[in-house]
Amino acid sequence: MRFYGSTMPTVFITGCSSGYGLETARHFLARDWQVVATMRTPRPDVLPVSNQLRILPLDVTRPTSIEAALAAAGPIDVLVNNAGIGVVGAFEATPMATTRDVFETNTFGVIAMTQAVVPQFRKRGAGVIVNVTSTTTLAAMPLAAVYTASKTAISGFTGSLALELAYFGVRVKLVEPGYGPSTSFGSNGAARMQGLIPAAYAPYAEPIFAAFAQPSAITTVQDVAEAVWGAATDGSDRLHYPAGADAIALAGGA
Ligand SMILES: NC(=O)c1ccc[n+]([C@@H]2O[C@H](COP(=O)([O-])OP(=O)(O)OC[C@H]3O[C@@H](n4cnc5c(N)ncnc54)[C@H](OP(=O)(O)O)[C@@H]3O)[C@@H](O)[C@H]2O)c1
Repeated sequence: MRFYGSTMPTVFITGCSSGYGLETARHFLARDWQVVATMRTPRPDVLPVSNQLRILPLDVTRPTSIEAALAAAGPIDVLVNNAGIGVVGAFEATPMATTRDVFETNTFGVIAMTQAVVPQFRKRGAGVIVNVTSTTTLAAMPLAAVYTASKTAISGFTGSLALELAYFGVRVKLVEPGYGPSTSFGSNGAARMQGLIPAAYAPYAEPIFAAFAQPSAITTVQDVAEAVWGAATDGSDRLHYPAGADAIALAGGA
C-alpha cells in the first residue's frame, strides 16, 4: 500500500473523544502512525502522550472548522469519518429539526470532510477514505428510520465515489459496526431521544427495547478499530468491512 512519501503515514480521525474513534486513534498510534485525533472539545487526557499524536478541534458540521483542522493537519494519507450521532424512536414523533441535526453530522459532515480531502488525494494519486456507517445499512432495524436514512445515504455515496476515485488511485471504504454498548453513543443521544416513543407506540417499542438490552452478539471498540485498520491498510478494492460479531453475522459471515 503506497502512502504519501513518508515512512510513517498520517491518519486523520473525526470524533475521537470517545468510543470507536478513540480506540481507532489508539490502534493507529500503537502501530507507529502519525495520528491527527480530532474532537469537538479537545481532551488530551483520553489518549497516550506521544510525539506522533496531534489533537485538533473539529466540528464536522462547521465548514470553517473543517478548513482550519485540515490546514493545521497538513498532508494526510487516510481520513476516517467516524463522528456520528444517533436517534432511536418512532419516526412520527421525531422532529424535523432532529432529523436535520442527524443528517448534518452523519451525512453532510461526512460528505463535507470527504470533499475537503479529495483534491490532495487525487493530485497525489493515493489515499484512503474510511466512512463509518452502521449495520442499519445492512438490514432494517425498527425505530431507527432517520438514523438509518442518514447512514444509508453515506453507504450509497461511498460506493459511487469509490468507483470514480479508483481511477486516481484513491480508495473509499465502508466500515459497518454493529451495536456497541460500551461507547458513549447512547448517553450522547439520550436527550435527543426524549419523548420519541409516544403512548401509541409503547406496546410495540417495549419488546424491541427489551431485546436491545439483551443482544446475542455485540461490537467492541477493538472490533471497529481493527476493521478501520484493515480498510486503511489492506490495499484491496474491497468496499464493505462489517465490524463486530453481530455485524459479521448480519452481513452473512463476510
Ligand atoms: N455504538 C453503536 O452502537 C454504533 C453502532 C453502529 C455505528 N455507530 C457509529 O459509530 C460512530 C462512532 O460512534 P460511537 O459508538 O463511538 O459513539 P460515541 O462514543 O458517542 O462517539 C461519537 C463521536 O462523534 C463525535 N461527534 C458527534 N458530533 C460531532 C460533530 N458535529 N463533529 C465532530 N465530532 C462529533 C462525538 O464527540 P463529542 O464528544 O463532542 O460529542 C464523539 O467523539 C458513529 O458514526 C456512530 O453512528 C455506532
